[in-house]
Amino acid sequence: MATAKKNLASGKTPLRRADPLDQLGRELLVQIMQEITRDAVLTIDRDGRITSWNQGAEALLGWPAAEVLGRHFDFLLPEDLKRSGEVERLLEATESHGFLRDWETRRLTKDGHEIHVALTRMHQLDGDGKPLGATAILRDISPRKGLEEELLRARTLGAIGEAAARIAHEIRNPLTGIHNAITLLAAEFGPAHHRAPIFKEIQHEIKRVDVVLDDLLTFARHRPLSRQRVDLVRMLEKVVANLIAAGDLEGVVVRRYFPDELVVVADPSMLEDSLYNLVQNAAHALRGHNEALITLALKPGPKGIAITVTDNGPGITADIRRKIFDPFFTTKAHGTGLGLPITKKHIEAHGGRLRVRSAPDRRTTFEILLPPTVAPSN
Ligand SMILES: Nc1ncnc2c1ncn2[C@@H]1O[C@H](COP(=O)(O)OP(=O)(O)O)[C@@H](O)[C@H]1O
Ligand SMILES: [Mg+2]
Repeated sequence: MATAKKNLASGKTPLRRADPLDQLGRELLVQIMQEITRDAVLTIDRDGRITSWNQGAEALLGWPAAEVLGRHFDFLLPEDLKRSGEVERLLEATESHGFLRDWETRRLTKDGHEIHVALTRMHQLDGDGKPLGATAILRDISPRKGLEEELLRARTLGAIGEAAARIAHEIRNPLTGIHNAITLLAAEFGPAHHRAPIFKEIQHEIKRVDVVLDDLLTFARHRPLSRQRVDLVRMLEKVVANLIAAGDLEGVVVRRYFPDELVVVADPSMLEDSLYNLVQNAAHALRGHNEALITLALKPGPKGIAITVTDNGPGITADIRRKIFDPFFTTKAHGTGLGLPITKKHIEAHGGRLRVRSAPDRRTTFEILLPPTVAPSN
């Protein structure tokens, strides 16, 4: 410091090379930080390439150090953040303030999952104040974020549900009236009349509206569980048979990993609807795909019963995955966007959980976890 001052004062050019001791000190500091913390700590050079990666980073993000050193850090960013310019925003923020503290964002793990993290980022300068790169610390805040989102969703759903139920009731009565009138007219003109196909078409469309209303009411209405003994193996076989009859499983191989029998005490219609929705979604995802395969598995375990529906379809991008449990969200021309919200509601009513694992071009697995309380007491 004194040297630099003297140099400045005497008008000489200050030292341009990094002070080796300072450099060593900084490296030591980063190393110590990396070892004592369970957070992910990584350093990157000026070009954004990863130069160190601690055990916390391996644990949080799933990548071993050997596979990431030298790579640009942007593979850790979800596509939507990359597109919205997060890399540039980060650089700008760190450059203008020297550091960034607890920036809440998302990162991708090796297996394609997104996690919520709080990011602290510090600029690293050499002895002359020239940028060397940055140190980033990532703290996992997924559990807290999950709760916040859950709460927000519950509130929104409550409001949407009430409005939807009222609208559905209002529409149902006139719709029944229209249906009856058309049926009467169709009967009067007879099936041979040249207008008969039009009546058929109207009846078909009314049926579709009716299905949507049904879904809406199921979703919005609170119905207490009506528990009975049911065999999940038979129930899944029935769901598959119904979907085959509806033509949804044409060209799809269905592989089953079932025990001989698995009896639970649960609400049969809620469970059947849930399974139907998941297998039907898998079938829809496989439309037009070669070697289409759906794998169904039933696994009883100490933590409850896991029912998984896996398909080898196109997978779900992280962007879409965030929305699939929102009511009315659909990517299908004739979808209602209520299948997954209803399924989630039914499963949670049993104290269970519905989870999804998917990424583009990977297999998609929806998993229902029923709690041990569904086991029959005998
Ligand atoms: N197995 C799957 N593979 C790919 N995308 C899926 C799968 N299951 C659900 N999805 C996505 O979730 C969305 C919502 O599903 P859902 O709530 O059942 O409504 P809908 O089937 O009427 O669209 C679907 O439109 C689709 O984009
Ligand atoms: Mg569906």
